[in-house]
Amino acid sequence: MQKEKIVLAYSGGLDTSIILKWLIEQNFEVIAYIADVGQDEDLDGAREKALAIGASKVYVEDLKHEFVTGYIFPAIQANAVYESRYLLGSALSRPVIAKRQIEIASVENAKYVSHGATGKGNDQVRFELAYYALDPSIKVFAPWKQQQFLDEFKGRPDMLRYAKKHGIHVKASTEKPFSEDDNLMHISHEAGILEDPSYPSESRMLSKITPPQNAPDRETNIEIHFKDGIPVKIFNPTDNTVKTDPLDLFVYLNDLGRKNGIGMLDMVENRYVGIKSRGVYETPGGTILHFAHLDIEGIAMDKEVMRLRDMLSPQFAELVYNGFWFSPEMEFLMASIGKSQELIDGKVYLSLYKGNVMIRGRTSPSSLYNEKLSSMDIEGGFDQKDSEGFIRINAIRLMAHSAITRRREMNGENNCKNAAKK
Ligand code: ARG
Repeated sequence: MQKEKIVLAYSGGLDTSIILKWLIEQNFEVIAYIADVGQDEDLDGAREKALAIGASKVYVEDLKHEFVTGYIFPAIQANAVYESRYLLGSALSRPVIAKRQIEIASVENAKYVSHGATGKGNDQVRFELAYYALDPSIKVFAPWKQQQFLDEFKGRPDMLRYAKKHGIHVKASTEKPFSEDDNLMHISHEAGILEDPSYPSESRMLSKITPPQNAPDRETNIEIHFKDGIPVKIFNPTDNTVKTDPLDLFVYLNDLGRKNGIGMLDMVENRYVGIKSRGVYETPGGTILHFAHLDIEGIAMDKEVMRLRDMLSPQFAELVYNGFWFSPEMEFLMASIGKSQELIDGKVYLSLYKGNVMIRGRTSPSSLYNEKLSSMDIEGGFDQKDSEGFIRINAIRLMAHSAITRRREMNGENNCKNAAKK
């Protein structure tokens, strides 16, 4: 019988190695696909490992540039922050990984795709929604949602036993007591010892940034230049470093963020599937860009556009988090955010110091800031007497409300509780 082809998103780690072997046992021809999104991994090693386990072919795809320009930068433009804190490093990487996977499936004429995300998390949703959105005819075979797989692998000991039986190499020495997801934008630490939300995140578990306590006792000053809300240049006046290529620029910011201990977050968040989850994140470059972008908008964005856009940012973040990157509602938000960024140009001057991003100034060719108008010292451009009517009209409503509450107070009917007692 002709074997069905399946493209597996493969990381080289224990889970996806076992899945690779298990899929072969289920009579699939497995094409391993390794997405390079900037994780600190030995990708050649992963390629060899996939072939040794029995993959018929291995794709190692460099997605870093696309990840930065097509996913990270749009999220920066949108000020996308999930539940007021998380900058979405993992969530943003899933659609770019899934997109290439579907392209490979099409080139290879594979009917199936697979991944190693469990049935309890966000990543399964993000991968699979992206697959279906990009190719409605694709079939998803996710082992963590197959009864046979679940029966066979009830816990880690089963997996280690299986790995041993099939000669799958397990890097026990480098294993950490929690699980990680690493890419260009961030690294997440979750599960294991971190499942106790009171267990303190410690500086020794950080891998992308220097603990702020150990960062240099000296500021790093830089300039970030924006065009249409996108960073187009970084300048470091101390050593005249200039970066303009999007990937170089982002890697450089990561490096400065790492040195200065920027971008650590420890939080309990709500997963899409309704489970609360504790995570520790390190997002050095993304954190710097997020603050710089907010600042350039401060001077260049119209007030009412900002009010409307600010309503969209949490929606944008939620769509990214929940896996709806490829969706009509996301297209709608993207178009609107894109429009809001048309005049977001200029330079932000900032300093990085012991975990802090400190904004020190900004200039913009599309500045809406009028020094004369806002000055406390200069008379002119604005008749201060006009403010009298402005305040009086705004006060009409407040005065009406006050009059009512005072009257009710005097009659002893000042609140609902009293009213109910009567
Ligand atoms: N909680 C984060 C998120 O949902 C990080 C997920 C990391 N994924 C992983 N497989 N370890 O975006």
